[in-house]
This record gives sequence, structure tokens and C-alpha cells, in this order.
Amino acid sequence: MDKNFERTLVTCALPYANGPVHIGHLAGVYVPADIYVRYLRLRGEDVLFICGSDEHGVPITIKAKKQGCTPQDVVDKYHNIIKHSFAGLGINFDIYSRTTSDTHHRNAAAFFRRLYEDGKFIEKESEQYYDEEAKTFLADRYIVGTCPKCGNEGAYGDQCEKCGSTLSPDELINPKSALSGGELVKKTTKHWYLPLDQYEGWLKEWILEGHKEWKTNVYGQCKSWLDGGLQPRAVSRDLDWGVPVPVEGAEGKVLYVWFDAPIGYISNTMELLPQSWEKWWKSGDTKLVHFIGKDNIVFHCIVFPSMLKADGTYILPDNVPANEFLNLEGDKISTSKNWAVWLNEYLEEFPDKEDVLRYVLCANAPETKDNDFTWKDFQARNNSELVAIFGNFVNRAVVLTHKYFAGKVPANLKPEPIDAETLSQIPAIRKSIGENIENYKFREALKEAMNIARIGNKYLTDTEPWKVAKTDMDRTASILNVSLQLCADLAVAFEPFLPFSAEKLRKILNVGISAGFDHRAGEEGSIKDNMFKDGESAALHTSGGVQSEGLVLSWESLGNDVILPEGHLLGEPVLLFSKIEDSVVEAQVNKLKEAKAANEAAAKAAEVLKAAPQKAGCTFEDFEKMDIRTATVLEAERVPKTDKLLKLTIDTGIDKRTIVSGIAEYYTPEQMLGRQICILANLAPRKIRGIESKGMILMARQPDGKMRFITPEETLTNGAEIG
Ligand code: 2FM
Ligand code: ZN
Repeated sequence: MDKNFERTLVTCALPYANGPVHIGHLAGVYVPADIYVRYLRLRGEDVLFICGSDEHGVPITIKAKKQGCTPQDVVDKYHNIIKHSFAGLGINFDIYSRTTSDTHHRNAAAFFRRLYEDGKFIEKESEQYYDEEAKTFLADRYIVGTCPKCGNEGAYGDQCEKCGSTLSPDELINPKSALSGGELVKKTTKHWYLPLDQYEGWLKEWILEGHKEWKTNVYGQCKSWLDGGLQPRAVSRDLDWGVPVPVEGAEGKVLYVWFDAPIGYISNTMELLPQSWEKWWKSGDTKLVHFIGKDNIVFHCIVFPSMLKADGTYILPDNVPANEFLNLEGDKISTSKNWAVWLNEYLEEFPDKEDVLRYVLCANAPETKDNDFTWKDFQARNNSELVAIFGNFVNRAVVLTHKYFAGKVPANLKPEPIDAETLSQIPAIRKSIGENIENYKFREALKEAMNIARIGNKYLTDTEPWKVAKTDMDRTASILNVSLQLCADLAVAFEPFLPFSAEKLRKILNVGISAGFDHRAGEEGSIKDNMFKDGESAALHTSGGVQSEGLVLSWESLGNDVILPEGHLLGEPVLLFSKIEDSVVEAQVNKLKEAKAANEAAAKAAEVLKAAPQKAGCTFEDFEKMDIRTATVLEAERVPKTDKLLKLTIDTGIDKRTIVSGIAEYYTPEQMLGRQICILANLAPRKIRGIESKGMILMARQPDGKMRFITPEETLTNGAEIG
């Protein structure tokens, strides 16, 4: 810990509660943050780990509309899924709350109010798109039109998802309301703006001069925003979902989601620690670190610090270690396209393999550039690193100790130089793991930890205790003693990275660990909605805790020559990791292929719908004029010299008549015989190729462009009226 800090407050980006968490989120934000927190706690530092669901914003309201439920239903569902899946992966926030909580609504409103009363906002009227039919102002997402850059007709008012351009609604060609499909008008509306331009000088000084140590991707993005010049940003929206703007005359307006969400970090701290939260947010000896993805950089480095600065009573982040993006099998992860590996599904499909995912996501974390997750790589890292290196080393050392020394750590009776040379490498590794984690270089830190297992394997290969045991038990004892010390090193070094396996290993070695303390219990009188509410099982969590009985290891044990004393009795040997077969990863790849196929079909269906938008309204009387009935095809033949026409003789229940239909492309005459269909019976007769056609057969166009009959589910009486 830097000498000026007494404690560390770690926040993770609050995930939107409109879908589960996927591997991109985990690799970018949550796994690194959890490693960081576990490491600091292992070193005995006071750390608070805060997260929760981001439950406001337009996408949530869109999802609710699509699903025919309320936004609250949407966020209730996903908040629970997300909260449990984080716990399932061993990510133990001190609190995982939500921005729909009372505490947050009160706190976010009070934060706004303070700035408002202090004159920190500017009020501006502007022209915004208004949907006359739905009687509402439209958020940019609710406006659709043609992208001026690529011609995509389904671009949104904030972004074109086809070409990726950031847009404003004014740039869209032929903008329409996504709510009603109707035309838009411009109306005047008032909003509050945070004048970021007034903070530009201070931000330049604070970041560009004061935080040159920030990761280059973060520093670079800040610099380019600051060099481009900052504009006032609206902090309110015309919307009915969010924290109401707490000033008179602001009916129908809520705080912009990016204004309220980061305040959620503070609200959640208050909820957990109502008496001492200020120590974490207002005391200069607290180190504040925000873990986020790269798309959140501007909000956490520029907007939120300006809000905190405007208030004037809060500390600012010491660091914002944002990661780049993780791709999946070569393609961008996409929630809407279901191109993702969802954490909740992974935990169900890979029980007891939490650490494999943690390992792969850390080993492959997109720390400096975008990276790719593939199932082949997942399998390879498990089989040839976790199983073949880490698991294999531990297993050999422990099984041989049970075989030759009844499971007791043997005495170091006959040391040789290779032993000391081997053990002497570990203190440098401990230092390097620590430094790398403290500098947010988690991949490198993990590599270093893995080097302990590599060193162990090499040591066993060089010393071959199974051979030595045939002639020299004293030397065998020494070799196994050294090997077991390395196992104990692994049990400490991997606690931040692979907490489930580290715990398993500690059971094998029959040791505990002093892994620091967390704040999940809150304070007396706290009203927190944290992980343990509702009597949830603490077994979900593996923070380690302090074990008071027996041998207890700590970060300081790592690299000591004698961690396990002679005569210490080991636990039962169990395998730390197991091989993942080809069929398992193939099944996952197939699942993704199916998602892609379903997505392509849905995209085609959307195209078809776009080509046939809903027609202008009709009255009930118009509808009543149409006589739609069930009927059966009695005879069918091609109309000579045409490709498309069939002449059908139909039993309509009323009569037997002829209908000529353009369906020969899709059905042969044989396929039509005996088929029950629906017809429009009272369509005025028309002559087609000289044949009088009386009525029309009802068909549905499919995404592939083909026409299909509307056939009753069961055979009905011919002539039954439909309506
Ligand atoms: O990008 C996101 O997923 C946002 N929900 C992150 C919010 S972080 C913070 F500000 F709450
Ligand atoms: Zn475009």
C-alpha cells in the first residue's frame, strides 16, 4: 500500500440489469478487480469492494416494452441472476445492491440537489424530438432512421449498429419514432447541464499532469477527449424510468442514467456502512480505484470526477484501470445477438470449474488490446497448464508423500544445492506477483504464479524422487520436503487468482490462510441488501477467512524455505483439476453456431417485417366486410404456360368454386390436394388467364421469402367464419 493511504475502496462498473453477465464483462472488469481485492486482503489491508446493478436507462425500458412487462420486472429478474452468478464465481463484493434502492434514489437526488443549489448546473432549453402519437419526448435510442454514413435504414438516434458510427438524432435521414412508427415533431424542453468545459483546465492538470501513471489506453482516451475540448453535458432526460429530477417544474424528467449510476457506488457504500461510509469517500487517506471496461472511461475519468469535484467533499479516483474488449471466437461479443458465453450458464454447465474460467479470462485478459476467447484455447489452457503443470506437480508431490512418508512432511535430511537454488527463486516471484498486481498487470502476475508450478515440475523431473526412493530414503525425504514447500507457496500465491483451487489445495496440505477480512457483515443497524440477505448460504463464498486452529499461512509465508514444518500431517490427496474433453468444447462451439443461425434467421425475419410495415389503420367496419373462411382443396392443376399459377377447385362450405392462385413456385398440385386452408371468400371475381377466380387463398410470407398456407391446427368444418 502506498504510504499515504490507509484503506482501499474498489468499485466495479455497475452492470446493466437487462441481461446476464458474460465473459467480456468478467475479463474486462470483475475478475481483475476480484484478484486485486483478494491480493490486498491477503496482505492484511483494509479494502471495501463495491458493486451493484445499474437499473435505469432507456435500454431497460425498451426491453420491458418488447417483453410486455414493466422495467421493474426486467431489473428484478436480471439483478438476481447477476448477483448470484458473481457469487458463484467467487467474486465477493461487500455489497451488491441496486440503483432502484431507496437509499440510492434518495442519495442521487440529494447529490443533484446540492449541485443545483450551489449553482453548478446550467439550465438550457433545446428542441428535442417529440412523438405526438405516444405523447412523449424520445430518447435518442427511440428514434430510428437511415444512417447518413452507410445507408442502414434501421439506425438509432445515438448509434448505427451496422457501421458503428456514433450519431445524433438530427443526423438521421427520415427519422421516425421507434415507439409508434409515426412522424416526429420538434418541441422545446428544458434540461440541466454540467458545464464540463469549466472543468477542462482542472481535468487536464489532474489527469494529464497528475496521473501519467494511468494505463496508456486510459490516459490516451482521456487526452483525446481533453484535447478535443469538453462541452456541457445534459444530466437529465425526459423519461419516466429513473430517479426523478428533484426540483420543481421537472415533472416527467429523470436524472440521466450516467449521472445517477456512478453515484450508485456511494449509495451502496452508505447502504452497507451507514455510519462509516464517509471515511471511505471523503477521507484523503482512502485510495479509490474504479475497475471498468474501455467504453466507460470518459464517464469515470472525466464526467464522474467533475461531479465529485463540483460537490467538493469527495475524494477522486487514484486509478481507473480500464481494460479493452474480449472477443469471442473471432467476433465481437454481442448481447443482442446472443454471441456470448453467459456466466450463469457457464456455472451450470461447468460445475466445479469456476477457476478454469477465472484462469483463462485472466491469462487472456484484454489488458492492453482487444483479445479473443476461444473454446479451443479454454480447453488447451485447462489441459496443458492447469492439469498438466499445476495439478500434476501438486499431485505428484502429495501422492509420493502419502506413499513413502504416511502423509507427513518428511525431514530435510539430505539437502543438495538444487534444493536451495529452487527455493531461492520464490521470493523474487512473490515480489513480482505483488508488483504486477499493484500495477494492474494481472496477466503477468498470473504467469509469475504459474512459474512456481513450472519450477516445481522441473524440480521433480530433475530430482526424480520415485527413482531415488529405491535407494535413498533420506534424499527422497528432502526432495519431497522441498516439493511440499512449493505446494504451500502455490496455495498462497493462487488465493487471489483461483480461490476455489487454492482452498482445495490448502485442504490437501491441511493448512489455513489468513486472507484478511471483508465488510460483508456491514455495521450494526445497516439496512444493506447484500450477498447474505435472505439467509443465502455463505458456502457460496470462498474468501478464505482467518482460520484460528492449525497451521495458518499468509502472504508473508510465500517464499519462505520452511512453510510446512517437518512432521506436519497432510490431508487427503484429491485432484485439483480435471481434463476437459473435445466433446465438451465442441458442444459449446455448436451452441454458439446455433445462436448465430438463430440470429441470422431473426435478422432475416426483421428484414421481411421492414419490407412489410404495418399498413394504415382500418375500421372494424372495414374488417367486417371481409368474409374469411375455412375451405378444402378438392382439385389442383397447373395453369398451362405459366410458372406461378395453380387452378384450384375449392369446397368453401358455401359452394364449390375455382380460385386461381400464384403458388406454383411453392407447392405442387399434388401437395395441394385435400389440404384445408383459409380463404377470403367475398373478394370480387377476377379473370386470370381467362379463368374466373372467385376468392383468394390466405398465405404468410416467410423470412426466406417463401409463401406458406395458413392451415387450421385441426380439421374444421368447411365454411367456418374466421374473425
Ligand atoms: O456500461 C455499463 O455496463 C454501465 N452500466 C456501467 C455503469 S458504471 C457506474 F457508473 F455505475
Ligand atoms: Zn451506419
